Amino acid sequence: MKILVWDVPTRIFHWLFAAAFALAWLTSDSDSWLNVHVFAGYLMLGLLGFRLIWGFIGGRYARFASFLYNWKEGLAYLFQVLTGTANRHIGHNPAGSWAVYLLLTLGLLAGLSGMVTLGGQEGQGPLAPWVPYWAGEAFKEVHEALASIMLGVVVLHIAGVALESWRHHENLPRAMVTGLKEGTPDASTPSRRLVSALLLIVSVGAGTVGYFSGTPITGGEHEAGHKISRSIDPRETPLRITETPYWIGKHRDIGAAVWQQPQVGSRANCVACHQDAEKNAFVPARLPRA
Ligand code: HEC
Repeated sequence: MKILVWDVPTRIFHWLFAAAFALAWLTSDSDSWLNVHVFAGYLMLGLLGFRLIWGFIGGRYARFASFLYNWKEGLAYLFQVLTGTANRHIGHNPAGSWAVYLLLTLGLLAGLSGMVTLGGQEGQGPLAPWVPYWAGEAFKEVHEALASIMLGVVVLHIAGVALESWRHHENLPRAMVTGLKEGTPDASTPSRRLVSALLLIVSVGAGTVGYFSGTPITGGEHEAGHKISRSIDPRETPLRITETPYWIGKHRDIGAAVWQQPQVGSRANCVACHQDAEKNAFVPARLPRA
């Protein structure tokens, strides 16, 4: 018979966490999406806070104690999966539990390093007063590396789920939606709807509070000026705005062909790309088309 294995909070966490990661990944490339990117990051951190608590007080199969496997058991299990001899697990199997621990740890580190990057590079968020510009730039590399490793683990996780679903003729993604799996009544777990309502409020709330606790990113003169000036090392005051670390960092990826276009002409011709530069608002940049 079908019994409840994944309680409601665990399922909500799973899909919201996946959605937040996807959103953060998709919005990571452009400054125009920085607001959304930062919100997705805070949402992930809020969700993680919940999941860490839920790992101790949550339902039967959500507790860390129910899926503590050492690396030997994990490797042995992976080997069995490949040879087709792995046992079916009603909760997390050893390989799945590895994915959980890795994704939680990587998500936490990616979120925290993102806050350091935001504080250093953009002078925004709670860490801004403590992180100098150069440290933000350095942490950006760490942040991106963590996110890429995380994407790798997600891919492996999806591959593992697909393989296990096929081997045991069991639709595991659907089980993470409905919570139901084949089993005996004594193996089921209560659904905990009340806690899931709380989870939604707390995690989305934490995301929103985290997001609004920093200066909202809207590009006015003041903000662009502030960001640029805090990137300058006082010992070597640059003569031009285009020599400041912040400016260089923001325009590094623009190809030589763009700079050579007749509409641009010079780096100082801000209006060529920042159509509203005359109003001193620098956020939306549109590259001129050839
Ligand atoms: C060739 C086009 C081009 C020119 C010329 C240009 N920029 Fe930019 N600028 C961009 C692009 C593109 C971005 C966004 C980079 C990104 O999305 O990561 C940007 C980003 C910025 C940002 C960051 C916006 C934010 O809040 O994240 C500031 C500030 C800025 N430019 C100021 C200037 C100033 C000042 C000048 C003139 C001295 C200038 N830019 C000249 C293309 C240009």
